[in-house]
Amino acid sequence: MRVLVTGGCGFVGSHFVRRLAAGGVEVVVLDKLTYAGNPANLEGVEHELRVGDIADPEAVEAAARGCEAIVNFAAETHVDRSILRAAEFVQTDVHGTLVLLERARESGVRLVQVSTDEVYGDVQPGVDATESDPLRPSSPYAASKAGGDLLALAFVRTFAVDAVVTRGSNTYGPNQYPEKLIPLLATNALDGVPLPLYGDGRQTRDWLHVADHCAAIELVLREGAPGEVYNAGAGDERANLEVAQRILELTAAPPELVRHVQDRPGHDRRYSLDSSKLRELGWSPERGFEAGLAETVAWYRDNRAWWEPLKSGEYLDYYRRQYESRLAQG
Ligand code: TYD
Repeated sequence: MRVLVTGGCGFVGSHFVRRLAAGGVEVVVLDKLTYAGNPANLEGVEHELRVGDIADPEAVEAAARGCEAIVNFAAETHVDRSILRAAEFVQTDVHGTLVLLERARESGVRLVQVSTDEVYGDVQPGVDATESDPLRPSSPYAASKAGGDLLALAFVRTFAVDAVVTRGSNTYGPNQYPEKLIPLLATNALDGVPLPLYGDGRQTRDWLHVADHCAAIELVLREGAPGEVYNAGAGDERANLEVAQRILELTAAPPELVRHVQDRPGHDRRYSLDSSKLRELGWSPERGFEAGLAETVAWYRDNRAWWEPLKSGEYLDYYRRQYESRLAQG
């Protein structure tokens, strides 16, 4: 089998490429190598890398040649950045997905659209979002992903394209760019600098280890039904404050490093997924949050050479813009 993995140099994408390659699948990676795409994530993994944009039909056509399926991880993914600059999110997450759908339509191959639980918006306490729930995205990021999902489902209905959508919950593990909560807090704790928590820090997320997320996506690639959506969450719900405290313990950093800072506008308090549909297909997450977090923090401790160079240039500009005045006030 030969598969095109878009965004294969990013966090979840690179773990997925590693997984497919280990299983003997021939992998072509199409990646724009934005700030979050890092070819070092694929060191030692057999693959063909093509640098290009999913919103460029020619780049997509060339990369997809001979492939039996496309799995789309290419996306702008960070909520806080989408609040600062929404246009890039629409360009990649909506228009880029459209280009991939056109390719799938023309070539008759399957497209797996990797999406997110954020498309459902805030979920009330005691409730889990199911695949048929209405989409109520709160951020420009979530709205862009919802746009991609809706296009994929419309292409199934209108053109009988073989598209299938996965909606994963908050994912963590090695190789995640240090703008997201867990790697940001872990690397800050290892450096002894403040850990910024938005608002009261009592927002909760449903954490999923990247290896379990990739297993879910591969199962959907192989066995998902066209036009279906599959939620993938481990049901391991934690408050951000609890995650921060655990990271402080794991890094032996002082509790005073936690800073409550100005909240994110439109911040969803809670995400939680009902993943019974995917479980019925045969998926079950294997990594508990406690062990997975400890292993992840240890990876960041042992792989400074991976993340230290990332915390420079563009990252510092973003970090200042996002956190400087918040931390000064906090
Ligand atoms: P994040 O990793 O950005 O994922 P998402 O917004 O997609 O859920 O954030 C996870 C949670 O952590 C979310 O409730 C926002 C919060 N958060 C902070 O409190 N401080 C931070 O510096 C970041 C990046 C996130």
